[in-house]
Amino acid sequence: MPDNVADTTPPAERARAAFREKFGGEPEGVARAPGRVNLIGEHTDYNGGFVLPMAVDREVAVAFRSKAGRESSVYSADYDELCAFDTDAPERVDGHHWSNYVRGVASVLTKAGRPVAAINAAVEGNVPQGAGLSSSAAVEVAAVVAYDSASGLGIDPLDQVKLAQRAENEFVGVNCGIMDQFVSRLGERDRCLRIDCRDLTYAAVPIKSEDVRVVVCDTGVTRKLSAGEYNMRRSACERAAAKITGREGALLREVTLEELLASKDKLTSDEYNRALHILRENQRVGLACEALASGRYEEAGKLLYDSHASLRDLYEVSCKELDMLVEIARGVEGVCGARLTGAGFGGCTVSLVRAGAEGALEEAVMREYPGKSGLTPRVWVFEPGPGARVE
Ligand code: GLA
Repeated sequence: MPDNVADTTPPAERARAAFREKFGGEPEGVARAPGRVNLIGEHTDYNGGFVLPMAVDREVAVAFRSKAGRESSVYSADYDELCAFDTDAPERVDGHHWSNYVRGVASVLTKAGRPVAAINAAVEGNVPQGAGLSSSAAVEVAAVVAYDSASGLGIDPLDQVKLAQRAENEFVGVNCGIMDQFVSRLGERDRCLRIDCRDLTYAAVPIKSEDVRVVVCDTGVTRKLSAGEYNMRRSACERAAAKITGREGALLREVTLEELLASKDKLTSDEYNRALHILRENQRVGLACEALASGRYEEAGKLLYDSHASLRDLYEVSCKELDMLVEIARGVEGVCGARLTGAGFGGCTVSLVRAGAEGALEEAVMREYPGKSGLTPRVWVFEPGPGARVE
């Protein structure tokens, strides 16, 4: 989706301007939904486990107004493209088309028995694309919030999250977990969310910016083969859970470390390694929350390094560029820890850094990474921001 990273005008303002230009008149509202970065708890969401993401201060904005008839018209300023579709039965466009995320939302709302008003809408954004910061979840969440508001439905926020995820699973066709849509909708300023992805309860964990900063470094490697690899990891976990418990549909969340060790002979080495990562990663999320809450940032950082090693060696979703960025971070004074964030196979690392050391990390990355990798990195310092809203 739109990645107007260079333009410093806020996306909400640009979306309003694009709406006026394309449709005339003022929008009824602007739905804003952020991207996210996950501090720890990777690939655990679809195993019913724990995650610790935060919403970032980069977002997708959808300026909208309800209209008569059943045809929704959505304009993307970045792609300079206007798409019209039947709100009740949108068709999927082949390939990674930006409008599928909006069409998907209209489709699942109708299927869930929540028929919505048709809308005119203009979409803008500044979430970097293809970097694993969930720009697509941000579009889905902004679209749910826009349709909900335009239709006066008042859908419960958690149901909005589930509908946005369903749009990705059923319409776009990516079998993702619930983390990205969850934090894009329910994120909080200055806080990460510790989400229990089995029962969908959550607790806010404060990140004090006077103590610590969250730095995200982009490898510049876009996640090409990731959809197939992602689904393979997911099915290996499902097979492992079924073999260990003797029950189809079981989740690794229900399995203890003792049970996993006792079942080692029943599992392929891939299944065993993937499951071992998940069980330990769930433990790390709990430990990281305790460490962060009491200001033990070096201890939290050590858990990030451990998570990275596990994702690299057991879950096998890292790549050499991600490993390089983690090693560069390790050499910088004041960096507490670093790891790959998101699905992996490229995209970004996240580093937990003592306040004041973020400049040194950025310098080290800019100095060392291009020569080592042949690629141009990008570095952002993100503050945890609020989740989706309409204004
Ligand atoms: C992607 C998916 C999420 C989650 C992460 C890995 O971002 O969309 O649901 O599975 O990968 O933790």
